[in-house]
Amino acid sequence: MSERNPEKVTIHTLAEKKARGEKITFVTAYDYPSGRLVDLAGVEAALVGDTVSMVVAGRPNTLETTVEEMLYHARSARRGVERALLVADLPFGSYHVSETEAVRNALRFLKEAGAEAVKLEGGRKQAPLVERLVQSEIPVMGHIGLTPQSLHMLGGYRVQGRTAEAARALLDDALALTAAGAFAIVLEGIPREIAAAITRQVPVPTIGIGAGPDCDGQILVFHDLLGLSFGRPLKFVRQYADLTTQIRGALERYAADVRSGAFPSDEESYHMAAAEREKLLLASSRPAR
Ligand code: KIV
Repeated sequence: MSERNPEKVTIHTLAEKKARGEKITFVTAYDYPSGRLVDLAGVEAALVGDTVSMVVAGRPNTLETTVEEMLYHARSARRGVERALLVADLPFGSYHVSETEAVRNALRFLKEAGAEAVKLEGGRKQAPLVERLVQSEIPVMGHIGLTPQSLHMLGGYRVQGRTAEAARALLDDALALTAAGAFAIVLEGIPREIAAAITRQVPVPTIGIGAGPDCDGQILVFHDLLGLSFGRPLKFVRQYADLTTQIRGALERYAADVRSGAFPSDEESYHMAAAEREKLLLASSRPAR
């Protein structure tokens, strides 16, 4: 079997990039346009994140997201992503009841949505599950630190690993995930010093979000990066565009043009052929009997 696209990013490409000291880029994608744009921009990987619950569905957290919702978004993103690695988040509850159910749910993302890997949250506790998934030929990305699915256990969205003891625990989490076969680990909301230490000590790529510049790569939420999320951006977000202002302005101009009659113009309208117009005029000018 030959590789159709030599540029295709796989989990091995990410390992090679870490070995060469090259940074890795990840952005979330939830549908065809975001997947297409991430792919066209040359970003290495698209994550169908359960943040879809917040930035697309407008919920206050990620907890309600279901497997069916995530499959829908993963399929939609899949149609836009050709070259980048496509990773799908396992939503809260889909891997917490039993290992068998977790494997069954994870398999659906590869079989029904075309994802190439799944991501789950948690460290040492989840290592046996990661091992089982990897044994089932499912590449797994870990996620430790501020894990949003643990919102209620953490008591809010708080930076993790601020004490030496907590930092040590995070390193143990990262090492356990690596030993279990995770191909990469997201480090979220932790001090940059800890992220740097983990990055040095684990053999797989670390992908940071709110974890400083020393990780092997970075991930941002599509809507945050483009200024499409409402409200004040978090400390670690850099907005590379202000699409909220641009889109709102365009919608306001459209509404004003419709109200004033400036849209649509004659050029933006369809026309009948001259002969057919004639017939219509004749018919309408005939006196009624
Ligand atoms: O769901 C998500 O978008 C994520 C990233 C923020 C890492 O997990």
